[in-house]
Amino acid sequence: MVVLGINNMHEASCALLIDGQIIAAAEEERFSRIKHTSGFPAQAMHYCLEAAGLRSDDLDMVVAAWRPWVLGLRATLALKSVLASPRIFLAKARRGAGQMGHEWWELFTLKRLLKQYLGGGRYSVCYLDHHLSHAASAFLCSPFDEAAILTVDGAGEEDTTVLWHGNGRKIRKLGAVRLPHSLGQLYSATTAFLGFKVQEDEYKVMGLAAMGTPKYAQYLLDNVVALRTDGGFWVKPYFLDYHLARFGRFSPEVEQLFGQPRLKGEEISERHADVAASVQYVLEQALFNLLRHLHERTRTPRLGLAGGVALNCTANGKIFTHTPFEQVFIHPSAGDNGTSLGAALYWSNSGPDRITEPLQHTYWGPSYNRNRTEAALRKAGVSYTELSEDALIERVAQLLTEGNVVGWFQGRMEWGPRALGARSLLADPRRADIKDKINRIIKKREPFRPFAPSVLEERAVEFFEGYQPSPFMLFTFPVRSSKRSAIPAVTHTDGTARPQGVTSDTNPRYYQLIRRFGELTSIPMLLNTSFNVEEPIVCSPEDALATFLGCEMNHLVLENFLVEKSVAARTPCSP
Ligand SMILES: [Fe+2]
Repeated sequence: MVVLGINNMHEASCALLIDGQIIAAAEEERFSRIKHTSGFPAQAMHYCLEAAGLRSDDLDMVVAAWRPWVLGLRATLALKSVLASPRIFLAKARRGAGQMGHEWWELFTLKRLLKQYLGGGRYSVCYLDHHLSHAASAFLCSPFDEAAILTVDGAGEEDTTVLWHGNGRKIRKLGAVRLPHSLGQLYSATTAFLGFKVQEDEYKVMGLAAMGTPKYAQYLLDNVVALRTDGGFWVKPYFLDYHLARFGRFSPEVEQLFGQPRLKGEEISERHADVAASVQYVLEQALFNLLRHLHERTRTPRLGLAGGVALNCTANGKIFTHTPFEQVFIHPSAGDNGTSLGAALYWSNSGPDRITEPLQHTYWGPSYNRNRTEAALRKAGVSYTELSEDALIERVAQLLTEGNVVGWFQGRMEWGPRALGARSLLADPRRADIKDKINRIIKKREPFRPFAPSVLEERAVEFFEGYQPSPFMLFTFPVRSSKRSAIPAVTHTDGTARPQGVTSDTNPRYYQLIRRFGELTSIPMLLNTSFNVEEPIVCSPEDALATFLGCEMNHLVLENFLVEKSVAARTPCSP
């Protein structure tokens, strides 16, 4: 059975499964080069078919991760908010609502669009509930036969938080919180209050929270977010209204409590960090309340987690100590991009048996062969050297110990928001100054944002307290106090880090690089950040070269080719 999953809303994406096994998955943004792009994911869809060597005739099922006819409550609430301000209503009508409208319309006309972009075929088209798609992504590729599942985001069709129980291939809904009560939207509205981009920069609020004190948290818990005894929650309407916040409008109560919203570009102050810390604290309390209740209902020590809020690594890392759950699987693409895969997983496992293998890695995106990579190098007109595997590992490890930042482009691109050693920028975690260098010169981003480490899985417990397997960089753990001074570049202000445990099975070349770096330095770990500068993570060799040539980074590895900018400056293009 060949199933294609599609998400055409925020973070548009596509995933293709054959007989329940993942063959390809990618976000549309990697091809369109527009971050978090929405709309029909034509390029991602073509990539998935090409990677599988299939045509539209071969598809059995296309499943969309939204049910457009159930979007009434969501639309009504959005309209109700913006009607409060004629100015905002007009602005939204011009761009926001118009944009949303075309996505909804695409869902209603999906068959026609598929025929237009894909061609005809014998495939059926169906729609799956948004939160069920999230739940399927969290459970059906987890290693668990049975688990509690929590899905939390801004909003699906109507639900914002859903509790589930997964058993075998079946996923049963236990309860839900519906709009307008949304933890995800509260966090996004705070993101707007702090002068960041909504549905894009929420992780900046999480990073900033570590630098503040949750001094407003008690007020919020007493007056804004009520934690219910049944595990649910209420959020006071219009305190931090998501739809108005997107247009920079905030209630008098918010401004009385938090002060003036931060203007774009305004310097980050202690007050801003305190706001972030307070909302982060409230989010965590609400999540732990939900999870404790979910555990009582399901009586299982295993948990699957998905939805945009599941990307909050700070909260995720505390699940082991603040709730009874002992094993946690978080889908690596927990945001809306992951719903295309979830929807495809759900339908692929609709037979009598669960057939999908547990997810071991995220390398489901495009790869580029030697000729294709070398052609991109020639076209860019840069000097390069081709190295054997061993020589490449040795050279790059040396470059890293010398304080260089290295662009690392290898194999198939990662699925999801994290660079996990296929499209990464790498550096020495021992150097405190490297963090500022990457933030200021290369990534051009805020100085408070932390960097994460990739560590040999078997050595991770030496560095992180309470470490649990973390292949997808989705949990934050305290760095052991004895190790903090050894790895300052990847230790956040609050003494935590967000590690990726690397095994030789899933990425042997990256594993060998970290291992060699460890032999040279006694630290089997690298600073790993995504290979991008203010745009989506690079996908093709051309993207990588353009980013490399446009920033102050001197070394780029494209498969077995090494490009050294300083050499390139001295030597004309040799090939
Ligand atoms: Fe979602």
